[in-house]
Amino acid sequence: MKLADKIKKLKKEKNAVILVHNYQNPEVQEIADFTGDSLGLSKKAAATDADIIIFCGVFFMAETAKILSPQKKVILPDEQAGCPMADMITAKQLIELKRKHPKAKVLTYVNSPAEVKAESDFCCTSANSISVVEKAFSEDDQIIFVPDKFLGQYTAGQTKRDFIFWQGYCPAHAKISPEDLRKQKEIHPDAKIIVHPECRPETIALADRALSTSGMIKFAKETTAKKIIVGTEPGMIYPLRKYAPDKCFYPASSQANCPDMKKINLEKVLNGLENLSYEIKIKDEIIHQAKRSIQRMLDLS
Ligand code: 13P
Ligand code: SF4
Repeated sequence: MKLADKIKKLKKEKNAVILVHNYQNPEVQEIADFTGDSLGLSKKAAATDADIIIFCGVFFMAETAKILSPQKKVILPDEQAGCPMADMITAKQLIELKRKHPKAKVLTYVNSPAEVKAESDFCCTSANSISVVEKAFSEDDQIIFVPDKFLGQYTAGQTKRDFIFWQGYCPAHAKISPEDLRKQKEIHPDAKIIVHPECRPETIALADRALSTSGMIKFAKETTAKKIIVGTEPGMIYPLRKYAPDKCFYPASSQANCPDMKKINLEKVLNGLENLSYEIKIKDEIIHQAKRSIQRMLDLS
């Protein structure tokens, strides 16, 4: 039997659901029950009635699923699939920052450890950071934004609030330069440019839109433009071509790979289902505290 068929059979027997992020390897996207961005996948994790969630993404995403569905087994098929940006802040560092700014409220990008979410007032994703700020904070509020300084700066630029930034960033998106976009635009002058808001401000400044990964798919389906330059992890080209086959997509940079997002393959998914490894485990009190900040985000979106 083919690997994909074995996975489908076992998934049914064990009442498991397979959630897959948009950057994952194509073979993994093809066996998904749901593909999506961080926001879409966390909504699926909260709503599923499956007993087991196989999360094909990176560590913080599987942790978020566990926080939202603590009674379920959440499996990350490769324990080493982390997010370097999420690792750029610890709960201890956030507590120290809160001490320095006692009046500020904390808005945390979901690309962060569970313990950091537990110290936060609200969470957001790249799809909803602007609307969370507009709905959750008044113009007088001071906002500590962690860990992504670039998403934070982009969000601050779109909202009238006083922000304090942490100096984290995504090493993959930081590699996409304004020069990369200019070069692609020279070759394809009639193309639209879309970028992820984890990019540098000077890169975002040259784009027509800054969008989450699922926002990019929606844009690609709806736009009248035939050519689109894509400033994000190059794995995104696969779902874009799949969902908008009538359009042409050009990666802005081939340097923006996220090796962690590519660690999961079909063998590891099958192993994850067979042996229920690696199982995400989080202390009850962290689940309880972190859930508040994530749930507040979901209630607003
Ligand atoms: P999205 O939520 O837009 O899919 O982004 C997740 C991510 O890690 C981007 O680097
Ligand atoms: Fe983290 Fe960047 Fe990889 Fe997304 S692309 S998982 S932010 S390192």
